[in-house]
Amino acid sequence: MKNRVTEILNTNYPLIQGPMSWNTDATLVAAVANAGGLGVLGPNAGQTVLTSDPTETAERMRNEIRETKALTKHSFGLNIISGGEENDKDNPFFEGILNVAFEEKVNYFVVIGEINKALFADIKNAGGVIIYRPLTPTRQKMQEAEQAGADLLVVTGHDEGGILPEQALGTFTAIPSMADAVNIPVLGAGGINDARGVKAAFALGAEGVFIGTRFLATKEAPSSIETKKAIVNSGYADMASIGGVVRSIVTEKAKAMLAKAENNGDTSSDAVGGFRIGMLEGNLDEGIISVNTGIDVINDIPSVKELVERLFEGVEG
Ligand SMILES: Cc1cc2nc3c(=O)[nH]c(=O)nc-3n(C[C@H](O)[C@H](O)[C@H](O)COP(=O)(O)O)c2cc1C
Repeated sequence: MKNRVTEILNTNYPLIQGPMSWNTDATLVAAVANAGGLGVLGPNAGQTVLTSDPTETAERMRNEIRETKALTKHSFGLNIISGGEENDKDNPFFEGILNVAFEEKVNYFVVIGEINKALFADIKNAGGVIIYRPLTPTRQKMQEAEQAGADLLVVTGHDEGGILPEQALGTFTAIPSMADAVNIPVLGAGGINDARGVKAAFALGAEGVFIGTRFLATKEAPSSIETKKAIVNSGYADMASIGGVVRSIVTEKAKAMLAKAENNGDTSSDAVGGFRIGMLEGNLDEGIISVNTGIDVINDIPSVKELVERLFEGVEG
């Protein structure tokens, strides 16, 4: 396929694998790159324990970047989480990861969160490509990001896995609304699990797709086998939304978080911590499994190459 997105990404398919905390390491990212998409390393890529030291966090990421390079000759991306210019400049974790990315000559940056103009300028000066994904997509945010120099925009509907947008705008309504508001290409995200979803995203005005959950249930994903099996064996009816922050297959931990949320407790940090314990370690009593609303149609654990070919079967360029 050839379009504006494949040109910018230099890939065979207009496809980006969404970075997922703990669950997107060198092996998965290189497999996506070798299959013709853009793989993206997420936070704690390749790690099993958390570090609270910014230098160690950055150096671990340097190792994972080098490991990815050893597994593929294609480009890949890195996730940068921005809290906005003011917050980022005092954040040693942010600085550390960014410096390592520039030193290691990473070209593609999946920036999520706030629009940090200084960050955008630094990426541009380094010759990098900015793929911007607001956590909550609005037309205004998309237009601001376009003006600030983003190359590609990701429109995420509430159907997605991971930390949920703050509004209940579904993928089907979000894509055309945002695509009409900007001139640069948008990629659709949220609940896209097969070729029907890819075709729908294109029909709605997206020029590419950005997929997270479906890659968890692949042979190469570092996610635990318990997680992969739970995704294959569960459906929408087995899930719960917790405090509006995250959706999970109902594990013991998810039940405890639901109770906490009902008492107005903040479950955000349990959510992200739960990704490691449930999804990486496979401890379903103490962790959660965050996935999109469409897992009814995920019925197997293919290789990344098989999955990517299937996703684009019959999709017109
Ligand atoms: C378990 C999980 C963890 C995620 N962690 C992150 C993250 O750390 N950074 C990020 O930018 N997006 C994160 N995401 C969002 C994905 O990058 C992507 O936007 C989303 O998965 C797309 O929706 P889908 O899951 O329906 O395909 C996460 C998603 C999941 C399912």
